Amino acid sequence: MSIGGVTQKPSEYEIRYYTDAECTREMNKDNPVRLSNGRAAVYVKIIPMVKGNYTLPNERDAVKGSYTVWTKGDKTKDFSNAKVTFYDAHNKKITKINYTGKSVKPEKMVVTLGGVDFESDTANTPYTYEIVNNINKGKAFVIIKAKADSGYTGTKTASFRIVSHNIKDLLFKQKPEEPTEPEKPEDPEKPTGQSKILVVYFSWSNNTERMAEFIQSQTEGDLYEIVPVTPYPTEYTPTTEVAREERDKNARPAIKDLPESIAEYDRILTSYPIWWHTAPMIIGTFLEAYDLGGVDIYPFTQSASMDVGQFQQSMQFVRECAPGAVVHEGLFARPADTGAITAYLTENGLIKETGR
Ligand SMILES: Cc1cc2nc3c(=O)[nH]c(=O)nc-3n(C[C@H](O)[C@H](O)[C@H](O)COP(=O)(O)O)c2cc1C
Repeated sequence: MSIGGVTQKPSEYEIRYYTDAECTREMNKDNPVRLSNGRAAVYVKIIPMVKGNYTLPNERDAVKGSYTVWTKGDKTKDFSNAKVTFYDAHNKKITKINYTGKSVKPEKMVVTLGGVDFESDTANTPYTYEIVNNINKGKAFVIIKAKADSGYTGTKTASFRIVSHNIKDLLFKQKPEEPTEPEKPEDPEKPTGQSKILVVYFSWSNNTERMAEFIQSQTEGDLYEIVPVTPYPTEYTPTTEVAREERDKNARPAIKDLPESIAEYDRILTSYPIWWHTAPMIIGTFLEAYDLGGVDIYPFTQSASMDVGQFQQSMQFVRECAPGAVVHEGLFARPADTGAITAYLTENGLIKETGR
C-alpha cells in the first residue's frame, strides 16, 4: 500500500476485511466469507496505525475498498452448476406435486454435479438443502447449499410446482330442483383451470341464505351451507344466549360434513349475519379449517340494525381467522338490495361472464 505516493511497510498499517458494505461484519473464523454462486464481495477497510508516521483516523475516515473473491473456478465443485432432479415414490421423474394443504416434498432429490449424482438425505452428501414455499399452489423452491469444508461451493435454487387436484369427496349441497345437465363437449375458448368461486354461507333465519343464493346465481360459483353439528335453538332468545356464550368464549362450533379440502377454489365469497356485533363464531371454524394463503375472500353480511361498526368488527374477525388470505372490503347490504349486491360483484369482477 502507498500513502501519498510513499510505499508503506506492512507494520505501518492494518487491513481489516468485512463481508458487508457497511463494514459491520468483520471477516474472521466465526464469520467466514460466504461464497454464493462461486463468488463473494469482500469489503476492505484500511486503517493506518498509530505507530510509525501516521495517526489513527476516525473510523469513518478509514479508506475503504472492495474486491471479489471467486472460487477456484472448478465448475464441477460449484453447486450453482448442478442439475437437480426430483422423483416420486415410484422413482418416476417429477416436476409437480399435488396440493394437499400441508407441506409437500419430492420423495427423492438427486443433485448431479461434475457427472456425480448426490442423492439427498444420504450419508455424506456435500450439501444441505431447505424447501420453502411448499404448501400452497404455485412454485416451491429447494435451496441447495454446499456444506462448509466439503470441498464444494455454491448455492443452487431448484423448483417444482404445487398444483391443484380434484378432491373427489368434496361434499357440496346440490339444489334438488336443478336438473343435471348433459355433458357438454369442452369449449376450446374457455380457459381451463381458471379461478373457481365458492359461495359459502351461514344463516339462521334464512336472510343470509337468500343473499348467498342470489350471489351464487350471479357468479355461478359452488354453494356450500355451513351447518353446525349441534343445531342452534329454533327460538330467537335462546339462540342469542348460545351465540353470546360462543362469542364470549371465542368458541369454534363444529361444522357438519365439513369439506376435507377447498383447495380448488381461489375466491371465497363468505356470507353471514351479524351476531353480537361480529360474525358468528362458526365462520371462524370454517375459515380456520383451511390454509387460505393467497385466496381472495369477499365477505357479505347483513343484520337487523345495519350498524356499520358491527360490520367492520366482523371484517376484522374474518381477517384474523384467515391469515395469509386476501380479505377484500366486504359488502354490507340487505339481502333484498340486489342492485347493491350486483354492483359489488361487478366491481370485483365476480359476475359470471355470459357467452362463454
Ligand atoms: C344470535 C343472534 C345475534 C344477533 N346479533 C345482532 C347484532 O349484534 N346486531 C344486529 O344488528 N343484529 C343482530 N342479530 C340480528 C341478525 O343479524 C339479523 O336478524 C339477520 O338478518 C339474520 O340473518 P339470517 O337470517 O341469515 O340468520 C342477531 C341475531 C341473532 C339470531
